[in-house]
Amino acid sequence: MQRTLVIIKPDGVQRALVGKILARFEERGLKIVAMKLAQVDRDLAEKHYAVHQGKFFYEGLVNYISASPVVVMVLEGHEAIGVVRAMVGATRPWEAAAGTIRGDYALMGLRNLIHASDSPETAANEIALWFTTDQIHPYAREMDRWVNE
Ligand SMILES: Nc1ncnc2c1ncn2[C@@H]1O[C@H](COP(=O)(O)OP(=O)(O)O)[C@@H](O)[C@H]1O
Ligand SMILES: [Mg+2]
Repeated sequence: MQRTLVIIKPDGVQRALVGKILARFEERGLKIVAMKLAQVDRDLAEKHYAVHQGKFFYEGLVNYISASPVVVMVLEGHEAIGVVRAMVGATRPWEAAAGTIRGDYALMGLRNLIHASDSPETAANEIALWFTTDQIHPYAREMDRWVNE
C-alpha cells in the first residue's frame, strides 16, 4: 500500500467541487486516512512548493495556494501515488485528458484544482509537512477485501 498527499486547491473549494473530487477517489477504492480544511500561510506554502523556488511562476503559486482555504488529505491504496496522479491529469488543464479531474473540471490558466504527490519521496515529505503522525488514522474497511483481493 502507498500513501499520497492530495490538496484540493482554493479554486476547487471555491467552486464547490470538494464532494465530487472526493467521490472519485472513494469510488476508485482509495481510502482517506487523514483530512482537514486548512488556510495555508506563507511559510507552509513556501515549504510545500520549495522545489519551484526561483521559477517565474513561484510567487503567483504561493499566492494561489494561500488565497482561500484548501482541503488536504492523505489517500492510501495500491500504487496510490501513480493512480492519483493519473486521475488528476496533466498540469495544464487544456491538455488534461477527459476523464481526469483537471480534464473534466478545469480549462485554462494554471488554476488546476488539485495537487498530488509525484513520487514516493515527495509523498513522504509532503505527508510529514501537512500532518503529524497522530493526525493519520489507519483503519480497516469492510469493502477493502473486495477492492484489494
Ligand atoms: N508555467 C506555469 N505558470 C504558472 N503556474 C504554473 C506553471 N507551471 C506550473 N504552475 C503551477 O505550479 C503547480 C506545480 O507545478 P508542477 O509540479 O509542475 O505541476 P503539478 O501540479 O501537475 O505537479 C501547478 O499545479 C500549477 O498550479
Ligand atoms: Mg508537482
